Amino acid sequence: MKVAILISGRGSNMERLVESCKTNNKSASVELVFSNNAEASGLSFAKNNGIETSVIDHRIYEKREDFDHELDKKLRENNIDFICNAGFMRILSEDFVNNWFNKQINIHPSLLPDFKGLDVHKRVIESKTNISGCTVHLVRAGVDEGPIIGQISTKVETNDNEEILSIKVLKLEHILYPVCLKLFSDNLIQINEDKIIYSKEAIDQLDEINARLGK
Ligand code: GRF
Repeated sequence: MKVAILISGRGSNMERLVESCKTNNKSASVELVFSNNAEASGLSFAKNNGIETSVIDHRIYEKREDFDHELDKKLRENNIDFICNAGFMRILSEDFVNNWFNKQINIHPSLLPDFKGLDVHKRVIESKTNISGCTVHLVRAGVDEGPIIGQISTKVETNDNEEILSIKVLKLEHILYPVCLKLFSDNLIQINEDKIIYSKEAIDQLDEINARLGK
């Protein structure tokens, strides 16, 4: 499966996906790292790892749809089969989302459907909830909406601040995202009208994460 990863900044999740595709996930290969931001620091990791990179600055397009059209063109030129959004800070138009229906996933640093959107950790701390985590989900037109593929939770301790919580959750994101991508590239899950149907192997692999984390 030829994968494109969309980033806007640091790209630490992208790094984990690339590493996993080079080591334990032989059914997927990262063919393109795309960014809407030429300054995204993750781009140099991709280049240094011999991965094609592409930047299209969204600010030169008046309409969201025009940027999305160029992105779509770039993905097709590279024969991409599947997209992973990894800190990609753009809302995608409905047409784009529908063109990549069930072929695009995203990672979000909360236990969706709670805390969609930005400033997640700040809002989690303010809410005084004692549980947070991360979610990988299929992309749908609504922001941070779509069928959930996998989640990992963590306790929010009384002394956690935004920074501590973001570090804790990011570590979990780095574990969860490669496993979820592999579920798709190994064909271990199916989607039936937005319901995820997990094979036995898929369930085992998701369970194994919790075992690894001692949960
Ligand atoms: C991650 O927390 C991800 O969940 C969110 O944006 C952050 C991106 O981090 N969507 P990185 O660029 O992968 O390091």
